[in-house]
Amino acid sequence: MPSNNTHTQSSMALLRQDSPAPAWFLWLAFLGALRVAAFSFHLLAHLALCLRRPKDLRRRYGPWAVVTGPTAGIGRSVALELASRGLNLVLVDLDLGNLREVSDTVRSRHAVQTKTVLFDLSLVSTAEDLGGAGPLDVGVLVNNAGVAKPGAVYLHEVAVEAWVRMIRVNLWALTEVTAAVLPGMVERGKGAIVNMGSASSEVIPSFPLYTMYAATKRYVAQFSRSLHVEYRSKGIDVQCQVGVAGARGTWSMTGSRDEAWEKLR
Ligand SMILES: NC(=O)c1ccc[n+]([C@@H]2O[C@H](COP(=O)([O-])OP(=O)(O)OC[C@H]3O[C@@H](n4cnc5c(N)ncnc54)[C@H](OP(=O)(O)O)[C@@H]3O)[C@@H](O)[C@H]2O)c1
Repeated sequence: MPSNNTHTQSSMALLRQDSPAPAWFLWLAFLGALRVAAFSFHLLAHLALCLRRPKDLRRRYGPWAVVTGPTAGIGRSVALELASRGLNLVLVDLDLGNLREVSDTVRSRHAVQTKTVLFDLSLVSTAEDLGGAGPLDVGVLVNNAGVAKPGAVYLHEVAVEAWVRMIRVNLWALTEVTAAVLPGMVERGKGAIVNMGSASSEVIPSFPLYTMYAATKRYVAQFSRSLHVEYRSKGIDVQCQVGVAGARGTWSMTGSRDEAWEKLR
């Protein structure tokens, strides 16, 4: 009968015979650990961002904000949020009744000033018509106005004027309004420009039947990226917000997505 001592010795021998983990396994474990560390870091960074006190926009950028397309959807929410942070607003839109309504709502809820600029952003020479905002200390610009009309159509199905209108609102007016506020921002050494892009140009490889819309939003994204680098040394922050299509707003006018898929079959 083998003694307990013999058992222990044979177990130790077995353990000693175990070969070390192969190199590929160690590499895989190392890469896995790196991935987990990177993920944890991003998660913590996001959490820290959520917990941070909101920036004092008025002090950081200036007392006035220009918001295009503030009478509905995202623009309206942005205008109300900026007003709640104490910013005076220049509201640019093409319907006088809607402009008055949003302006009254803002002032009834927050102790800020508002100015309304009645202007159709699909027209050229936007900058001249923004004259009212010229002398103001504009610290924040939100280029929100955008159109997705005529919606899900083949490029050749629609008269070219509709595309020209879309290009003017979605990219040309955005460019012109930006160029109009930049000199003041550069002079003061501070400012923030927020452009409304779209997931249609950033997170999916193509967007058939909305080709022109996605193309204009691609412009907005690239314009914002380059402008950010161009002006950051002058104290100006540029950001492109990438919205994901909801059932309301721009998209409510464009027909259902089911119709679009049906059309593509
Ligand atoms: N909603 C979404 O799911 C989504 C997704 C991705 C990106 N986005 C982008 O986010 C922005 C806002 O979208 P939204 O859905 O909130 O839009 P919305 O509800 O349709 O509102 C657009 C605003 O722009 C104004 N506007 C349109 N054409 C104009 C013109 N020619 N001149 C002056 N103002 C004009 C509208 O004024 P009226 O009301 O008087 O016409 C309205 O106040 C757009 O740039 C859009 O492309 C939206």
